[in-house]
Amino acid sequence: MNHSQNSEFSDVLLDQIADQLSDNGYLILKDILDQQLLQGLRLQAHALADQQWKNAGIGRANNHQIDLQVRSDKIHWITGNDQLETNYLALMNSLRIGLNRRLYLGLHDYECHFSLYRKDMFYKKHIDALKGKSNRILSSVLYLNEGWSKTDGGELLIHSETDSHILARVTPNLGTLVMFLSEQFPHQVLPAQKARYSIAGWFREARD
Ligand code: OGA
Ligand code: MN
Repeated sequence: MNHSQNSEFSDVLLDQIADQLSDNGYLILKDILDQQLLQGLRLQAHALADQQWKNAGIGRANNHQIDLQVRSDKIHWITGNDQLETNYLALMNSLRIGLNRRLYLGLHDYECHFSLYRKDMFYKKHIDALKGKSNRILSSVLYLNEGWSKTDGGELLIHSETDSHILARVTPNLGTLVMFLSEQFPHQVLPAQKARYSIAGWFREARD
């Protein structure tokens, strides 16, 4: 694939994403990102040193706290420090603009971090945005693991908003991209049996 495909989604793909989001509120896409970008991000995550990974918190701003009973993963914020990060942010920005045009979601920006779940790490059932309390509108997770098998655990479960049934069970394979409305879908990460890498991100509305 050439370089221009690194930084923008096609209109056809944006139409499909918008349709699925408005029909179901969530979607799971495979193999839509350039292999070169994926491999770059995968290697970048693997190359982060121990001290670059921070304990993840729960709650925002004043409420920020570390609770290892709820989640035990490690995170590293993506700030656009290098070409690869800039490419990924540009791509997600094209998604933001494309979705605003189609769905009028008023997505104002995108924040994201690498996540690492080492063996036995997990994230219990939670919602990314409490109604009226957060500016997170749309959640995204891109997986960065090659050759993940069923016995490696670490699946993402997306739960129904209204009852106990599981809408989707996602294997965290390289290139799989999941998106869901942040206020609507409880979800959890089952304990991983080996290191599990991903990029979690949120499209946010403007807030003052
Ligand atoms: C999160 C989250 C899911 C995953 O970081 O909020 O739910 O599959 N991540 O990594
Ligand atoms: Mn989450």
